[in-house]
Order: sequence, then C-alpha cells, then structure tokens
Amino acid sequence: MDHTIAIAGAGYVGLVTGACLASARRRVIMVEVDPERRQTLVEGRVPIYEPGLEPLLRAALDAGHLRVTDDWEDALAQASMVVVAVGTPPRADGRADLTAVEQVIATVRAGARPGTVLVMKSTVPPGTSARLQQQLRGEPFAIPIVSCPEFLREGAAIEDVRNATRVVVGGLDRDACERVAEVMGVPGAEIVRTDNTSAELIKYGSNSFLALKISFINEIANVCDLMGGDVDAVAHGMGLDPRIGRAFLNAGLGFGGSCFPKDVRALDQAAGRYGYSFWMLKTAIEVNDQQRMRFVSKIRAAVEGPIEGKRIAILGLAFKPGTDDMRQACSVDVAMRLMELGAEVVAHDPVAMEKAAPMLPGVELAESAYEAVAGADCVALVTEWPEYLHMNWNRVRHLVKRPLVVDGRNCLDRDEMSACGFTYHGMGRQPGVVLWGRRATDRVRLESEGVA
Ligand code: UGA
Repeated sequence: MDHTIAIAGAGYVGLVTGACLASARRRVIMVEVDPERRQTLVEGRVPIYEPGLEPLLRAALDAGHLRVTDDWEDALAQASMVVVAVGTPPRADGRADLTAVEQVIATVRAGARPGTVLVMKSTVPPGTSARLQQQLRGEPFAIPIVSCPEFLREGAAIEDVRNATRVVVGGLDRDACERVAEVMGVPGAEIVRTDNTSAELIKYGSNSFLALKISFINEIANVCDLMGGDVDAVAHGMGLDPRIGRAFLNAGLGFGGSCFPKDVRALDQAAGRYGYSFWMLKTAIEVNDQQRMRFVSKIRAAVEGPIEGKRIAILGLAFKPGTDDMRQACSVDVAMRLMELGAEVVAHDPVAMEKAAPMLPGVELAESAYEAVAGADCVALVTEWPEYLHMNWNRVRHLVKRPLVVDGRNCLDRDEMSACGFTYHGMGRQPGVVLWGRRATDRVRLESEGVA
C-alpha cells in the first residue's frame, strides 16, 4: 500500500527518518513549526552535523519525494500515517517533558482523516502511548497509536536506520501495526510485534542497559587503577563471551549526549512513580557523574604540584565523535572544574566549537588541535575524534610545554605515545601491560566497522 507520511518535527529523529523514507521512494511531508529551521531545510541544508544526511535530504527534495511545510491541514489531508518525532526534553526533576507530543496529538485528533495511523517515534515514558490512546479512541473514529521507537546513534544515524537489526511495532490495533511494519521495516530487521508499553520499555531498557554496561566497565577501570589490572585486556576477555559482548565496554569518561543521561533518569523516575526504586539506574548515573571528576583528579595528579596557572589543552568537546552535539558533554564539566581549580584551559573540537563556545565561558578556543596543544602542561583527550588519533604526536611533542597526556577515552596507543616521549595516563590502563595481538588502535578500527 502506498502511504503519504507526515512527520511532526524536523529534529534529529524526524529528519533522519524522513530522509531515509523518502530515499526509499515514500512520499514524505515534514511538518516543522520553527520558520528558521524550515527555511534552512527547504534550501536543502541540514541544521545539525550528521554525516550523509544533507545529500540524502537534497536528493529527496530534488526528486519531489519530500517537502517541508508548516501547514498541518494540508499534511493531514494527504497523510495516512503521522510520525511523531518531536522532542521530549528532560524537566528539572528528570521527567520527560511531553508538551510537544501532546500538542501534536491534539492537532492530529482535530484534523486527521479516517484511517490515519499515528506512529510514536519520540521517546516517551512507558505507559504514555497507552494513556494517549484513550484520548484518540473517541468519536467519530479512533486513531491507533503504534509505538515504533528509534535506535539510531548520532553520527551513524543513516547507517543505523538502513541496517537496523530490529523494528519494534507496539500497539493494540494489529492492522495499524502491520502497516507501520511495512513502512518502517528494512531488509534483515526482525519485526518485534508487541503492545505500546512494552515497545516503550524496549527503548528505555536498551538505552539504560547500554548505560549500565558503560558504568560497569568504568568501575572495572577504576579498580584496575587500584589493583593494577588493565581494563582493555579485561574488556576484551569479557567481551569474547557472547553472553556479554564487547560493544559498549569502552572505559573512559563515561556517557553523555541527549539520550543515555535523559533516558536512564526518566526510566528511574517512571519506576519511582509506581513506588519502585530502580537502584541500578541510580548507581549508573552516579558512577557516570563521578567519572568526570575522576578524570580531573587524574589530570591533577599527573601534573604534579599545584594545578593553578597550568595550561591544560582539551582535545574534543562534542559528547562523542561524529557529531556537534554538546548536550551533557563531559567536556563542559571537565573544563569548568579545571577552571575552578585555577587552571588555564584551551580547547579544540573539529565540528562542535560553535555550539560549545557559549557553554565554556573563560575557555580559550583554538583554531586547530596543534594550536591547542602549543605550550600545554597537559593534553587531556576528551572526545576520540579520528583526527586526534592520527595526529603527528612527534610534532605535538615539540609543541607542548610538558609531554603529558591524560587519555579520557583510552584511544591512544600507549606504546606509540611513550615512543614519542610522552608520559601517558589512561583510565584503568596500566603502563607496560600489553594486550597481545591487539593494540588500542584496533579498537578504533573495530568500532568503525561496527564490531567493537
Ligand atoms: C544512543 C544509543 O546508542 C542509540 O541506540 C539510541 O537510539 C540513541 O541513544 C537514542 O536514544 O536516540 P547516542 O546517544 O547517539 O545513541 O550515542 P552512543 O554511541 O550510544 O554513545 C553514547 C555515549 O556513551 C557517548 O558519550 C559515548 O562516548 C559513550 N560510550 C559509548 C562510552 O563511554 N563507552 C562505550 O563503550 C560506548
């Protein structure tokens, strides 16, 4: 069946979903209320940094498969499916703010034609879609809500949509679920058919579990530092057990971004409303927060003596490589704490400098990584951008004031750093411990291949 799909919200999820559906020759109408964002998109430009998204959007616009509008009346007259992809930002208490979702629901209820299916892609707390379904049950016709959570990663979003391993469709209306499965399914992906609340829990459960994995390996790294083990070796050895798996066992500064910190808190909050204390989630957050300060302590210990007046070069500001997203980025906490301690902080990021600048008052922003490290007492690696891994560290050695590196992502090769004359500190990595046959740089290669 041929569907015209309206997408509410041209943010991250909406844009990627819209561009991918249009490239699969679906007719897509993006409904975006922000005039500036709309205009940018109409001109074929993407307001976020996401590899491959801009050409995909441009091709879809040129082919006439996708258009951008603010005209809900027209969109609802054409569409047989409305995808909700608006933001659900965290409130101060950690609960998800559903204002934008509720606005879309009200608009759809007022103007949709019979047969329209509502697809919930926004991340909403478990139980939300079932509650909203009550509002859409009424006269003159019901509008089924199918929960279809998104599992894409920033920086690899298009690849993640196209190579999805699962497409979750949750809802009470079987026919509606099958229609959504037909539109959202991709070859090779298993369709998980379930109810709305289970679908929502799959999303929160997945993100929370991955966050737990990260906090777990970070605690292992911390005990490695105390006991003398090497976290790379431990993660490798553990990861070979298929019940555990190597992915998301990269120790370091911990998780940031718009998803893990928000979703872990939101699931804990949601459970709390039912009188359940989700201790593992609380601990995962606590460990993650502490990890940033542990990194700062490592820098303090490494520079030896007072940190006041020391020049610390931060490499990497975005919450992870491949994005300019600064939400919950470790770099901000690290930089601010170092400044509080009286250090002089200079920073660089290949793409996130513009977004980072207002969040880093007092931090000097360098034009290039080499400029950042010039005269530094310590180089602090915060985001593992490939350009830092492939820097000419011999050149860096001659630019810094003191050859000291604290690697918050365990991504530099210890032996190579030592060979270049650096004193190297990782997170739970022991100097002299060799992971036979696998070097740190292998991790980067494996990750780029989606293995590690
Ligand atoms: C995450 C999930 O991976 C996606 O499946 C999900 O769809 C998305 O959230 C979402 O809910 O929208 P994302 O936040 O883009 O995706 O980034 P990840 O690649 O998962 O990384 C999250 C954070 O964990 C980053 O700060 C990263 O540096 C950190 N991380 C990741 C580690 O510290 N160690 C690891 O081993 C892996």
